Amino acid sequence: MNNILMIYSTTDGHTRRICERLEQVMSQQACLVHVVALNQADGLDLVAFDKVVIGASIRYGKHQPAVAQFIERHLALLKQKPCAFFTVNIVARKPEKNRPDTNPYMLKFLKKISWKPQLLGVFAGKLDYPRYSFIDRQMIRLIMLITHGPTDPNTVVEFTDWAQVEAFGRQVCALGK
Ligand SMILES: Cc1cc2nc3c(=O)[nH]c(=O)nc-3n(C[C@H](O)[C@H](O)[C@H](O)COP(=O)(O)O)c2cc1C
Repeated sequence: MNNILMIYSTTDGHTRRICERLEQVMSQQACLVHVVALNQADGLDLVAFDKVVIGASIRYGKHQPAVAQFIERHLALLKQKPCAFFTVNIVARKPEKNRPDTNPYMLKFLKKISWKPQLLGVFAGKLDYPRYSFIDRQMIRLIMLITHGPTDPNTVVEFTDWAQVEAFGRQVCALGK
């Protein structure tokens, strides 16, 4: 029951880091976890896994389109298994927007797909101005200015609540029991 496939969609690597932390926690709970990037997941035999977790980050208001496409392609199979989905974004640094029922990206995504994962998670992401391109840096600084976040172009800050990530990992292991 605890052979788990965890698929991530990332641009700057933070969602992969969250998956790595989840993997650590889940391994401690006697789960066997296979972590794979979304663009490698189609080659896998999904039938072989007991549960599927998908995690995806937000960029300019959206998850990568490949996330919803993967879900639609494998919908029949996903519906047969206990599943979890989590989203990673900066808006989730705000306490009033860090739950599945209050995070705008999670709500929008769930409306778009017909998959209903049993477990949902929202994690605040990382802000790393120095690594962004000039245009991206200016755009995110503008968004931060409007939403009262850090605008100093040297800022690198992880808003992720790692205890929340670890709790989610334990919940995934308990899914379907
Ligand atoms: C170019 C760019 C656009 C972003 N757009 C949004 C956004 O629209 N809303 C939001 O909440 N976070 C946004 N973020 C923040 C990312 O979701 C956050 O940095 C996350 O940790 C990225 O995860 P990843 O490294 O797995 O891609 C953006 C980040 C970048 C670099």
